[in-house]
Amino acid sequence: MTESVSHLDLIPIKLLVNIREDKAINSISNLTQTPATTEESQPILEIWGRASLQGEVQISGAKNSALVLMAGSILCPGDIRLRNVPNLVDIKRMEQILTALGVKIQQHGNILDIDARDINPTKAPYDVVSQLRASFFVIGPLLTRLGTARVPLPGGCAIGTRPIDLHVRGLQAMGANVRIESGIVHAHLTGKKRRLQGANIYLDYPSVGATETILMAATLAEGETKIENAAQEPEIVDLANCCCQMGAKIKGAGTNTIIISGVDRLNSIDYNVIPDRIEAGTFLVAGAITGSEISLSPVIPEHLAPVIAKLNEIGCQVVVEGNEGTMFGGNIQSSRLRIIPGELKGTDIETLPYPGFPTDMQAQFTALLSISEGNSVISETVFENRLRHVAELQRMGANIRVKGHHAIVRGVRSLSGAPVMATDLRASAALVLAGLAAEGKTTVRGLHHLDRGYENLETKFRDLGANLQRIIPAS
Ligand code: UD1
Repeated sequence: MTESVSHLDLIPIKLLVNIREDKAINSISNLTQTPATTEESQPILEIWGRASLQGEVQISGAKNSALVLMAGSILCPGDIRLRNVPNLVDIKRMEQILTALGVKIQQHGNILDIDARDINPTKAPYDVVSQLRASFFVIGPLLTRLGTARVPLPGGCAIGTRPIDLHVRGLQAMGANVRIESGIVHAHLTGKKRRLQGANIYLDYPSVGATETILMAATLAEGETKIENAAQEPEIVDLANCCCQMGAKIKGAGTNTIIISGVDRLNSIDYNVIPDRIEAGTFLVAGAITGSEISLSPVIPEHLAPVIAKLNEIGCQVVVEGNEGTMFGGNIQSSRLRIIPGELKGTDIETLPYPGFPTDMQAQFTALLSISEGNSVISETVFENRLRHVAELQRMGANIRVKGHHAIVRGVRSLSGAPVMATDLRASAALVLAGLAAEGKTTVRGLHHLDRGYENLETKFRDLGANLQRIIPAS
């Protein structure tokens, strides 16, 4: 996936200024415009480390849930209201895809009103699909509702090749004709009914995206679909809860076997997206790495179980401070969490499908373990190329060696500020965390990665007492 466009590249600014990122996001005019390419013209984030943080941070809605629920809104020929949708570049890109398909979307703050009554299933534009892998997820809803879909291949991205074979095989097992021609996936249904047929599908790997594609496609299929070795991520449960509220019949979401009984039609709903467990995990690591006690809400603590277990092993405590009061899909009540930092000691981490340790938290923990006493081994098993932040952490004084898909970390006493380059979304968060802990000034480039997935990150950190600012170079 080419992730080369920053919304900030698109804003002509004459002077060095420090702007709020929420304003910048609202200024997105055309996300497919060619970005400025010289390093000097890119915005940077300056961080002066060692500030101690305090207070409470508000966790935004889950990016990965919101993206798939937006794709899922195509299932319903009526009105869908999604609440708690984070204001992010990735969400804007999904809006662009849906709009190109004919979906009408209105945004009021964190609420999206979506009307997918009249759509054209062949209009997904390559230039946006290629920048947002999740936009490929429209294929299942388009095919099951309209009997045909034409979606460009999303391509690889910074963290790996990211094939879509499991999505395609699942749809084929349900009777779809799928061919890939000139970089475009063409899927259609034949026969009098032009309806997908329920099937037993065993996934070779519990892919989040493939589980979501098949689950959405099966909601309107004829008969029963069973997905075995399904992904169990909280975002799958959120999708299933949302579809059930629309009238779908789904059992077993959150386990490795999901059974979907197809229905004829899905209905309008009003749905609250779950809090972002990866954003929450990133702030928990911020507390640990800066030795600060901070609180976060709303969060669903079970979604953070593997992250909390590792923080405990490293020497920090995470306390659940009772119900926070907001209800999320499927009547889940959220809580407030507090991190109580401690003496940091090394541990081993292996990324795995949920409920294992999330690959999306690996980079942030690499930063944390780089200043934790003793040795740690981090094994990345989900994506093949997700250790590129190590070279940047080394620039800050970390002692880490990469061997295959393992990073061998020898904890150092402290990091020192340095110019660094973000290589993907979670790597960018890891560098911000390292900068917050380091002596002196860190400058982070490649902020278009950060803006894809963290809503108002700089404002949130500043409100906690961090010393950081975004600089837009003069054009
Ligand atoms: C989702 C998340 C991403 C997270 C990942 C793993 C969204 C929008 N993104 O991505 O943040 O890092 O889950 O938790 O929800 N694979 C195949 N064939 C396929 C599909 C996947 O081989 O058809 C492989 C991938 O290359 C990868 C592994 O399966 O090595 C996991 O990918 P998957 O779970 O599908 O991740 P995504 O849904 O793309």
